Amino acid sequence: DIPAFTLNDGTKMPSVGMGCWMGGYGGGQRVNAMVKKALQAGYRHFDTAAGYGNEEQVGAALRESGIPREELYVVTKLGGDKHARVHEAFEESLSKLGLDYIDLYLVHWPQAENDTEEVLKPHEAPTIVDTWKDMEKLLDTGKVKSIGVSNFSVKTLTELLPHAKVIPAANQVEMHPFLPQYELQKFCEEKGILITAYSPLGQPPAVGKEGVPSLLTNPTILSIAKERGVTPAQVLLSWGVQRGTAVIPKSENEERMKANITLVKLSDAETQGIDAEHKKPGLHRSLLSYHSVIDGKGAVFGWTYEQL
Ligand code: A2P
Repeated sequence: DIPAFTLNDGTKMPSVGMGCWMGGYGGGQRVNAMVKKALQAGYRHFDTAAGYGNEEQVGAALRESGIPREELYVVTKLGGDKHARVHEAFEESLSKLGLDYIDLYLVHWPQAENDTEEVLKPHEAPTIVDTWKDMEKLLDTGKVKSIGVSNFSVKTLTELLPHAKVIPAANQVEMHPFLPQYELQKFCEEKGILITAYSPLGQPPAVGKEGVPSLLTNPTILSIAKERGVTPAQVLLSWGVQRGTAVIPKSENEERMKANITLVKLSDAETQGIDAEHKKPGLHRSLLSYHSVIDGKGAVFGWTYEQL
C-alpha cells in the first residue's frame, strides 16, 4: 500500500501518483494504456489537467478498471483560459473524466488569459483572488473534495491567502533535488499547504543530453542507489516523499512504474548529501521557463520575475 498524506481539509492523498502529462498531443491511447497498467501496478492517485487534453482517456481507463471510485484519487486542473468561468470549466472536466466528483481541483497556473488568449497581468480581473473565490464556491456543489493551486510562488500565495476563506489544500510545483525550493516548501508547510512535486525525477529524457547534468546519473544519487540496491529514481522519489511532498512521476514502463511506488527510508546522511546537490554550479535546474523566472531571468506567460 502506498502511504498517504493528510491534507488540511482532512482528506488523504496517496503520496505517489501517476503524472498523466504526455506532451502537447495528450497521449491518446497511450495514456489510456498507461493508466490501466498503473492501476494494475497499484497506483491509485492520477494527475491530469484540462490542458493535458486527455481527461477523456484517463477517465475511461479509470472507469473501465472497475476499481471502486472511493479507492481512487483523481486530480485535474483549471486552464488559464477559464479563470473567468471556473464552474463551467469544472463541469467540463468532470464530464470528460466521466466521474461524479474530483478529489482535488487545482488552478493550473496563476496566469489568467482573456478570450483572445492574451495573458492578463496580476492586477487585471479575474485576478487570482477572483478566481479563488469561484474555486471556493465549487466546494458547495459537493462535486470536489479539495481545492488547490499549481505553479504558485511564495509571492502569489502571500497575495492570495489574506483573501482566502479556504486555504489551498495543495500547491503542485516542479520539485526535485536540483530544484528543491526550500523557501516555498517552508512557506507551504507553515500554511498547511501540501506540496505535490511534478517532474520529481528532474525531467530525465530532456536533461540526459550530453553535457547536461541528469539526476539519474548524478554520482551522489547513484552511489546511494547502488548501496541500497534500488534505482536512482527510487532514491529521488524517496527523498521527495520523506521531505513531506507527494510525487507524481510519469512512466509508461511497467517495471519503472512498479519501482516508482516502492520507496526506501533514507538516512540523515543520505538526505543531507542529496540536499547539498543543488548548490553545485552548472546545474540544469529545469526546462520550464517558470523556473528561469524563479532564478531571476525571463518571463512566463507574460509575467515577469517581479510579477510572479
Ligand atoms: P517512461 O514513461 O518511459 O518511464 P515527468 O517529468 O513528466 O514525470 O516524466 C518522467 C520521465 O521519466 C518520463 O519520460 C519517464 O519515461 C521517465 N521515467 C519514469 N520513471 C523512471 C525511472 N524509474 N527511471 C528512469 N526514467 C524514468
